[in-house]
Amino acid sequence: MFESIHIADSLTKEKKYQELLPQLKGLTEGESDLVANLANLSAALHSSMHFFWVGFYFVKNNQLVLGPFQGTVACTRIDFGKGVCGKAWETKQIQMVDDVDGFPGHIACSSLSRSEIVLPIFNSKKEVVMVLDIDSDKLADFDETDKKYLQEVILLIEKKYE
Ligand code: SME
Repeated sequence: MFESIHIADSLTKEKKYQELLPQLKGLTEGESDLVANLANLSAALHSSMHFFWVGFYFVKNNQLVLGPFQGTVACTRIDFGKGVCGKAWETKQIQMVDDVDGFPGHIACSSLSRSEIVLPIFNSKKEVVMVLDIDSDKLADFDETDKKYLQEVILLIEKKYE
């Protein structure tokens, strides 16, 4: 396992992700426990990319329930189809929101959150079992680069637990 994550702040976003991905692979490959890996992935993404909030919600008994995260305290339960997270679960599509105030039904866990990306995570039957939720305190902070590389992060989890 890697002892720590090293990403220079001076790099472009794309370069940061390119350097981060092998380190995330190294961080998770020797560990079989899902929660341990999600906890470390949250911490690594939060500290290296300086996102405001990074965390996972698990699908449990027809709700999303808060899992490992880094950032301020957050809502613990989200209903199917509700908020950005519930929408990602319902549609099985990545949700990228430039301005959370313009998203109908957005659930504001923190008033500092301005933009958000949520990626559904699937099991081998293509059912959504979790979502990865990332919030930024800047408007329109997420773009196709985040989408591309965060999908790679998701794959690390999906491949390991399929
Ligand atoms: N904003 C999310 C809720 C989760 S928090 O951002 C951590 C949503 O609308 O689903």
